[in-house]
Amino acid sequence: MKNYYKLLLALVGIFCLSSNAYAQETGEEIYTDYCEACHQPGGEGFEDTYPALKENVFVLGDTEELIYLMLEGRGGMPTFIEDLEVEQITTILNYIRTSWGNAGDEIDPAVVEEAFDFIAEEDDGFGPGN
Ligand code: HEC
Repeated sequence: MKNYYKLLLALVGIFCLSSNAYAQETGEEIYTDYCEACHQPGGEGFEDTYPALKENVFVLGDTEELIYLMLEGRGGMPTFIEDLEVEQITTILNYIRTSWGNAGDEIDPAVVEEAFDFIAEEDDGFGPGN
């Protein structure tokens, strides 16, 4: 009987570990992996090169423009349409809108998905993101 419980505990442990591996990335993790090198820890930005995302009117403003910026890029800001899924783009946008004292409302993934599909299907000869 004792061994049965040990086995059960081990199985529960394995289940927790493996399901953890597939856990959804948090906004903070995506920020660290894809944004922080330029926009810096704390969304502080870097001199005149990389705009601060903290207390930024664009970040807190029109959500559609923000979604299109992520998908199409602009100047030195890369496009993320090929690197991030709709879910990750929604997560990172909601992260930057609600971190470091920013108090924007949350973006609905359905809106991101619509823009994503629209741009991905666009065939202007320059490839997605252009
Ligand atoms: C390679 C550097 C680089 C990376 C990586 C990067 N950005 Fe940017 N980002 C920029 C630059 C440069 C600009 C300014 C673009 C311009 O000149 O219009 C910018 C602009 C922005 C803006 C608009 C700010 C404004 O005031 O107009 C937002 C929002 C933004 N980035 C979010 C992100 C997010 C979120 C990520 C990660 C998913 C990210 N960026 C990753 C370089 C980067």
